[in-house]
Amino acid sequence: MLKPNLKEARKRTTEETKIETFDSIWNMQLKGIAKGKTYFIKTYGCQMNEHDSENIKAILEELGYKEISIMEEADLILLNTCAIRENAHNKVFGFLGRIKNIKEKRKNVIAGICGCMAQEEVVVDEILEKYSYIDLIFGTHNIHHLPQFIYNLLRKEESQVEVYSKEGEIIENIPFKRDSKYKAWVNIMLGCDKFCTYCIVPYTRGKQRSRKHEAILKEVEELKEKGYKEVTLLGQNVNAYGKDLEDNYKMEDLLFDVSKTGIERIRFVTSHPWDFTDQMIEVIAKCKNIMPYIHLPLQSGSDSILQQMGRRYTKAQYLTLFHKLKEKIPNVSITTDIIVGFPNETEEDFQETLQVVEECKFDSAFTFIFSPRVGTPAARMEDTVSIEVKEERLQRLNERINYYSKCANEAYLGKTVQVLIEGVSEKDDTKVMGYTETMKLVNVKASKETIGTIIDVKVTEVKTWSMDGEEV
Ligand code: SAH
Ligand code: SF4
Ligand code: F3S
Repeated sequence: MLKPNLKEARKRTTEETKIETFDSIWNMQLKGIAKGKTYFIKTYGCQMNEHDSENIKAILEELGYKEISIMEEADLILLNTCAIRENAHNKVFGFLGRIKNIKEKRKNVIAGICGCMAQEEVVVDEILEKYSYIDLIFGTHNIHHLPQFIYNLLRKEESQVEVYSKEGEIIENIPFKRDSKYKAWVNIMLGCDKFCTYCIVPYTRGKQRSRKHEAILKEVEELKEKGYKEVTLLGQNVNAYGKDLEDNYKMEDLLFDVSKTGIERIRFVTSHPWDFTDQMIEVIAKCKNIMPYIHLPLQSGSDSILQQMGRRYTKAQYLTLFHKLKEKIPNVSITTDIIVGFPNETEEDFQETLQVVEECKFDSAFTFIFSPRVGTPAARMEDTVSIEVKEERLQRLNERINYYSKCANEAYLGKTVQVLIEGVSEKDDTKVMGYTETMKLVNVKASKETIGTIIDVKVTEVKTWSMDGEEV
């Protein structure tokens, strides 16, 4: 049993990141050991977790498992968890009760937890103490050992707990079972070294480590050959790409080279305002297949709060960057993340955030109430703001955010936009759906044959969260 350790997770050394390949770890003899069995996986959290689940699914299918959508019938139940806020935790703990019922009826079911919550010492201790029917706990750095855990569990060995808290390495070539045939996620960097004071990610995902650009470009080339139309380059701080490597190859170089592959659409998330260079902006503006869409988390508009958050930029610096992006990248859409109710946030601090919202008129935003995460500096700060005040601020903020989302969409009315059609519309199965270059969701009157292609769509109606249109 190897449990997570918060102190270890906090450490950063200058040691070079080790790169291994999955092929060198994968024991071919385990292929098919779970033939005839089924698995159910539920994924919480960000794109990185979704992408990890694509790895996990592929590994399980190598072992012989088949995916099913009814948890009650599965032989293996896995929860790939998120630790970013308290409510993410609560959802998972709520789910554990359902798993208990299943295990009481079907003893041979294997139940496991992985992802960011598995990296948290307090969580693993609680699971081991109160949820002893969980057979498997593995961390974000241990996915490549999944075949061995399953082998051990199928041989009825005791529960498997393995969570590395070390800085993390890079495992190349883990197979993927991608959720879409048209758009794909591509990790360009793992982990985070920013240590914003409220955030758990640097502890759950390890140190910042960039993949070699050759490996990334090869992956994009292969995706393009398979017919993929869009790639999203993933990292907690994509603009810091390459800073941990010695070849002086930076995010702007990567963007330019990915653009040269000729894949039709390129996106990237998440951009920290701190590392956004003029060279990056130039490349984005120049390359037509790099989409004019930037997610640029603000977090707060108050300099005092930004400083306490450890964000390394001021309100003025954020605004300068924001306006530069708007000016240099034609038709760019910019979205953001905002936290309200950071410890001791005053009404004046909150007003500063609202001012930035009024000035930037974001295309949309994810907004959150600060949630203290065990082990982070902000969780130890004294806080005099009541939850009622925080909730009320969130409501006031959301009202403005929604207003500007609708305004941003209204500018599209009657215009023709390009949409990558991804599938049948969830709301109306006679329609198809997809996203514009600027990441607006459109439900489109068009034949199902357009799925997987980029088509011209005339926008006929706009709402707060989506638009309607028809093929032209
Ligand atoms: N790497 C990204 C953010 C990843 S987490 C960045 O730096 O922008 C996604 C969002 O969750 C953050 O932008 C932040 O707004 C929110 N978040 C993170 N920790 C939080 C916490 N403790 N409480 C509330 N929101 C939080
Ligand atoms: Fe968290 Fe900050 Fe890293 Fe983003 S940059 S993942 S908010 S520590
Ligand atoms: Fe959640 Fe981990 Fe992503 S904490 S937001 S799943 S990196």
